[in-house]
Amino acid sequence: MENHTETDPVQIRESDHYQEQYMEEFVDKWDELIDWDARAEGEGEFFVRELKKRNVKKVLDVATGTGYHSVLLKKHGIEVHSADGSMNMLNKAFANASKRGHILRTIHADWRWLNRDVHEDYDAVICLGNSFTHLFEERDRRKALAEFYSVLKYDGFLILDQRNYNAMLKHGFSSKHTYYYAGDNVKAEPEHLDEGLARFRYEFTDKSVYHLNMFPLDEKYTRRLMKEVGFQKIQTYGDFKETYKEDEADFLVHIAEKSYDQEK
Ligand SMILES: C[S@@+](CC[C@H](N)C(=O)[O-])C[C@H]1O[C@@H](n2cnc3c(N)ncnc32)[C@H](O)[C@@H]1O
Repeated sequence: MENHTETDPVQIRESDHYQEQYMEEFVDKWDELIDWDARAEGEGEFFVRELKKRNVKKVLDVATGTGYHSVLLKKHGIEVHSADGSMNMLNKAFANASKRGHILRTIHADWRWLNRDVHEDYDAVICLGNSFTHLFEERDRRKALAEFYSVLKYDGFLILDQRNYNAMLKHGFSSKHTYYYAGDNVKAEPEHLDEGLARFRYEFTDKSVYHLNMFPLDEKYTRRLMKEVGFQKIQTYGDFKETYKEDEADFLVHIAEKSYDQEK
């Protein structure tokens, strides 16, 4: 990993940077940003419903973060293993889950070499909270998707979400594009947007400021990559709805199926 202290932040466009970005103080603040109650209201039962509909019993949460979805699924009786490449995030997730009466089974693993650390198979892999956008190189995206694919059972699912960067690039950033699950105590907005970088700025009530550099994924491109690594059918939801206007949805959720239909 490079030392970025002297680098122009807008030039930092690399997949390994997430380790540095999720520093301990930011991780501690993350739950102010991602308010769990606001999030529960925004998402509703969407993920639990989609998983249960598909009879999913065992899930690998590959972007555990501070543990919101891992805890949610456990509360609904789904077995979850919680992976993340950031030890700071896993520590926070473990503590958050313990506070709520759950013990997380955590796995410290980078998506690009997930199979080095994950040795079981799953009905579903979830990669949520606009996480996949941390990968800047196409090679990394392909590798990560292939790793997700390979830890799934033969008929498993991948659920991966992303912000609707196309709409942002096309129409510019509007106040609508704040995180739908952000708490009131934080201002979250893009500071820089071009075809290769979305740099978000998070300002907290104590005036502390943090940034995340992310790759502005094109939704059709994401779907194409999923198909190319072997996923057969992909359904995309806009703001948790089956029917949505491409320009208006803020969050897109892709549900990709591994199951191979020999009749096609
Ligand atoms: C935006 S956070 C989202 C966390 C959580 N899913 C949520 O919705 O609140 C992205 C997470 O992805 C993890 N991450 C980013 N790149 C990764 C990689 N290459 N391998 C493993 N984890 C990664 C980060 O450490 C971070 O916890």
